[in-house]
Amino acid sequence: MASKRKYKTLTLKEKLDILNRKMASKRKYKTLTLKEKLDILNRLERGESGKVLDIAYGVDTSTISDIKKCTGRIKSSPPSPAYLYSRRYRNSAVKTKAIKNYNTDKNTMDLKGKVALVTGGASGYGREYCVELLKQGCKVSICDINSDAGEDLLHELSKQAQDRVIFCPCDVTDYQQYEEAFQTTISKLGGVDIVINNASVMNDRLWELEVDVNLNGVIRGLLLAFRFLGRDRGGPGGIVVNGGSSCSTHPFVSLPVFTATKHAVAALTRSYGDPYHVNLTGVRVIAVCPTPTETALQGDARKRLMSGEYEQAWKRDTGNTVPVKNEFVAKSMVDLIKKAPSGSSWLIENSQAPKEITLFP
Ligand SMILES: NC(=O)c1ccc[n+]([C@@H]2O[C@H](COP(=O)([O-])OP(=O)(O)OC[C@H]3O[C@@H](n4cnc5c(N)ncnc54)[C@H](O)[C@@H]3O)[C@@H](O)[C@H]2O)c1
Repeated sequence: MASKRKYKTLTLKEKLDILNRKMASKRKYKTLTLKEKLDILNRLERGESGKVLDIAYGVDTSTISDIKKCTGRIKSSPPSPAYLYSRRYRNSAVKTKAIKNYNTDKNTMDLKGKVALVTGGASGYGREYCVELLKQGCKVSICDINSDAGEDLLHELSKQAQDRVIFCPCDVTDYQQYEEAFQTTISKLGGVDIVINNASVMNDRLWELEVDVNLNGVIRGLLLAFRFLGRDRGGPGGIVVNGGSSCSTHPFVSLPVFTATKHAVAALTRSYGDPYHVNLTGVRVIAVCPTPTETALQGDARKRLMSGEYEQAWKRDTGNTVPVKNEFVAKSMVDLIKKAPSGSSWLIENSQAPKEITLFP
């Protein structure tokens, strides 16, 4: 009884962790969606027996009925990626296998029915990503700090895709809010398969915020994606698309901090997108790096430069730029989700096929 009392105090995530661990060897269980797994937990909460669940899901749930007795085990959390890495690379034969397992032919993703979470989804590229992903048959969670713009977009998109789109107020500088956006999306849309880490600030005067949104926000999104999508954590796998910029190929001399955040995003993409991580988590990671839009070029540049004296540099940085259209970037991004190998970053210029950026020789 003592252990049952303790079970009641666990969070849903902890209960799900126990369920995933208990059922790790059950082949059919692995094919269930997160929603179905959560449904099993809800049914257990209501006191339904393993037999009823056998019928509902066709999986051998005889062990599930014991879950409430095994709370003592939750303290032993799953091994960390660093531990797994050291284990895997102690033996060179395993290392070769890990690399052989990675197969770019598998990188063709059918988007119909997939759930996409888009940060900074209320305006700019993010807005267009939501529109394009809905056209592809995805369900979309618009996540943005700007609730007015988010609600307006939800209202507009709901006319065509009523039960396939939601809005979650979310500040990517706040881990808890970002986590809640994942949880709300999972409970309302049935899971998360695609995370578009797009929220961004381009203003070197607000450089600390810029780093917190453009870089730390992307890191938070990646960590949450691994937590909720990672196959090693009982998730379905999927893809993360990070918002980079063309300044990874031609640094904006006028915006050194912005350039640094976007270069870091490309480096993060390369590292987390490596076959080692993909084999571990089943989550591919790519980055889209567009050239500036007309709107970005037209605004008063001085307001976003660290010093008014950098205006000449801004003119040099952007003088020859052909502005890119949001719709074109969104279509290219969707194409890359389907085909791009994990770890790659892609320069998107108007009316041109995306070009891969080589960061490291
Ligand atoms: N527009 C360009 O010219 C350009 C060029 C190259 C790269 N990019 C990159 O493309 C992506 C989108 O840029 P954009 O031009 O569409 O930006 P935008 O400024 O038009 O939109 C950014 C969105 O992010 C939201 N946002 C800002 N801070 C947030 C936070 N803390 N939490 C959640 N949401 C937040 C904003 O409310 C807004 O809806 C960014 O990664 C950007 O760096 C843009």
